[in-house]
Parts: sequence; structure tokens; C-alpha cells
Amino acid sequence: MPTPLHFDPTSAAFAANPYAVYERLQDQDAPLYWPDLDMVMVSRYADVSQIAVNPAMVRSLKDHCSDVDLEEETRKSGFADMPYHARFVQSNLLDTDGPEHGRLRRLIFGAFTARGLKGLEGDIHDYVERLLDGIPKGESFDCIEEIAAPLPGVIIGRFLGVPEEDAPQLRLWSEQIVSYYDIDKTPTKKAIAETAVKDFHDYLILLKNERHRAPQDDMISRMISQETEGLFHKDELIATCMLILMAGHGSTIDVIGTGLHSLLKHPVAMRELRDDPSLWPTAIEEMFRYEPPLPFFHRHATDAVTLRGHVFPAGTTFGLLYGAANRDGTVFPEPDRFDIRRTPNRHVAFGRGAHLCLGNQLAKLNMRVLFRALFKQFEKIELAGDAEFKRGLSTRGLKALDIKVF
Ligand code: HEM
Repeated sequence: MPTPLHFDPTSAAFAANPYAVYERLQDQDAPLYWPDLDMVMVSRYADVSQIAVNPAMVRSLKDHCSDVDLEEETRKSGFADMPYHARFVQSNLLDTDGPEHGRLRRLIFGAFTARGLKGLEGDIHDYVERLLDGIPKGESFDCIEEIAAPLPGVIIGRFLGVPEEDAPQLRLWSEQIVSYYDIDKTPTKKAIAETAVKDFHDYLILLKNERHRAPQDDMISRMISQETEGLFHKDELIATCMLILMAGHGSTIDVIGTGLHSLLKHPVAMRELRDDPSLWPTAIEEMFRYEPPLPFFHRHATDAVTLRGHVFPAGTTFGLLYGAANRDGTVFPEPDRFDIRRTPNRHVAFGRGAHLCLGNQLAKLNMRVLFRALFKQFEKIELAGDAEFKRGLSTRGLKALDIKVF
């Protein structure tokens, strides 16, 4: 087993600059063992990619160990004694592997393709215009709360079939559930997360019954037809809806904030984007590379794996640091430079392999529409205070981003 590693991802220093820690990790001869989570931390781009695309590296141990071992693993990771969480979060599409994962993924894949999202672009435009019309000029405001936060709930809600007025409630439930994924798990956070899953479940059951009676042109109505045909099994429809609402919510809020922050810190890039809006697609890819909002995931090894000549046995749990891989200098020249023209830009902000983010096109579409509209509506956007990053390992985003627009 490689040498243990010591760092504190809940510290202010890590929040201010996790990339210094990631660089130290990448400099080691082998991925290091992190006792706090009993994981081997993988930080180099090649290693992260190798683990993420290997089918023997799984998200769930369900089919790979005894019930007793699984119970022990669940207890160790803090997810025991959460009956609703176990049914609707711990066993969703993201936490299945192999053929079962493939079946669930294929059922909803079409909705996330460019074709499936076609009708949504106009809706995003309309909503963003309404949102920006309400922004006062010349006054300082927190653009995370006023611009970034309302958008994803409304848009994912529209895609799925959730009424717009319920978007703030969806945000709260998503945040309460996602917050229990990070490493600082407390009993209070656990109780809040379990209650949020239960309330979210009750809400989705009512919505499902409504759509059952009166189907509409939305994803939940299509999923109900699939369930009637026997394609979704017990609990899977609700678990999939929850995953879609959760996975893209906080992550979109965070990357809008960090993306705008990166631009505000790079005034030349801001000016170039104003002069040449065709740069937006590469600029947005760079926002995802530079500050990926979901920088850390895990995989369990069901077979031995060799990384740079070091053998890790079956049973090893790997921490995949997508955030570190995105700053690997062997793949990205001058990795710490925010470069809105970076090409190629094969970042791993959306993961790699079987679990590659289903919502990646939707996330980029939201960003493109929002940023273009923001720059069109306001001639000048400036920082109105220092911005502080939230603490944690699993998510990366700003607490607030005070700006002024003119
Ligand atoms: C905004 C930025 C987003 C980022 C950075 C992001 C990142 C990721 C990553 C890294 C994974 C793979 C996890 C792993 O390797 O274990 C993932 C999976 C997933 N994401 Fe996203 N995501 C984003 C937005 C969205 C949106 C908007 C949606 C849907 C509305 C979404 C839905 C999903 C789903 C369903 C999965 C599971 C895919 C599977 O297991 O096959 N994501 N996401």
C-alpha cells in the first residue's frame, strides 16, 4: 500500500486553493492512500481516465460482495439507517453498474441528446431574459442567488415536467441531499438528508399520479409510459427523477458562479468575448476544466489494477480527482492559465466511461444561453467584492459572488 496522505479538504486553505494539494499529489510516484476515507487518491489525468473507463472499477459493491460486507461498507460510508435514501438515492442509475446501469441509462439517454434538448433552448432563452430584466443596474448584488441559483431548477423542472413555482423547493431538497455526500457527515446533516429524500419522494409520487391521469409532453410522462411497459422496475422511476433533479442542480449553480468569477479575474478574456462571441463554446469548456463543480467521485476495484507499475488489489476504493486531472500539465499546457481559446480541451469535468454525465449538453446549453444573454444585456460587469469558495472535496463553488452591472 502506498504511503498515507495527509490533507484537510474541509480547511479554508484547501477551499482557497485545492490545486496546490492536487499538484503535490500528482508529483508522487504512485497514487497515495488516504486513511480518512480508506481510499487511494488518483490525481493524474492518465490514471483517472484509466480507472474511470475500466468496467472492473464499479460505483456500487452490491453485486460484488456479501450482504454482510455491503452492510459494513454502507455503515462505514455513513449511509446506514436511511431507508428512503437507500431506496431512492443509493440505488439510482449513478450507483448501478454493468447491464443494469446500461438498461437504466438507455431508457433516458435520448432526452439528453442534442435532438432531445432541441425544444428547450427557446425556453432557456425566455427564462434567462425574464431573469436578467429583473437585475438592477449600478447596484451591488450576489449573482449566485439572483442569477445562477434560479436557473437550473426551472430548466431541469421544465425538461422533466415540474411546475416552475416548485423550483425553489427542488433546490432546497437537492442541496440537503447533496450536502450529505461530502466528507463532513454529521448526524444532523444525515437526518436532514433523509427527510429531504422522503419529502421529495412524496412530492414526486403526487406529480407522477397527476401525469398518469393527464399525460403531457414532458419526460416524466414518457417515463410513466416506459414504466407501464415494464421497462422501469419498482422505485426506479422516482429514483431516476431524483437523480436528474439533483445531479444538475448545484453543479450548474456552482459553475455559473465560478465561470463568471474566472472571467471577471481575466478582463482581457472578457473583452475578447465581447468582440468575438464565437469564442463562447471554447470559453465555456475552459470554465468546466478550470473549476469543475463536481471534482471528486469514487470507484471500487472488483479486480486488481496496475497504475504506473503499482498493483492495487481487488477491494481497493479509489478517489477519482477529476478536479486534479483537469490541471495535469502533461495534458493541458500551462494548466493553471485560464485560456478561453484552449483547443483541444479534453477535460474530465463530466467524468469518463460508462457514467459520463448524461446532462453535459444541457449544462453547456444553459451556460451558453446565459452568458451570451448576460453580455448582451449589460455593457459592463464588474466585481463588487472578494469571493470566497465553499469548503469541501465533492463540490466546488463560491459562497457568493457580488457584482455590479451597467
Ligand atoms: C453543471 C455541470 C455538471 C457537471 C460538472 C456534472 C458532472 C458529472 C460527473 C462527473 C458525472 C459522473 C460521475 C462519476 O464518474 O462517477 C455525472 C453523472 C451524471 N450527471 Fe452530471 N454534471 C453536471 C450537470 C448535470 C445535469 C444538468 C444533469 C441533468 C439534468 C446531470 C445528470 C447526470 C446523470 C443522470 C449522471 C449519471 C450518469 C450515469 O451514471 O450513467 N448532470 N455528472
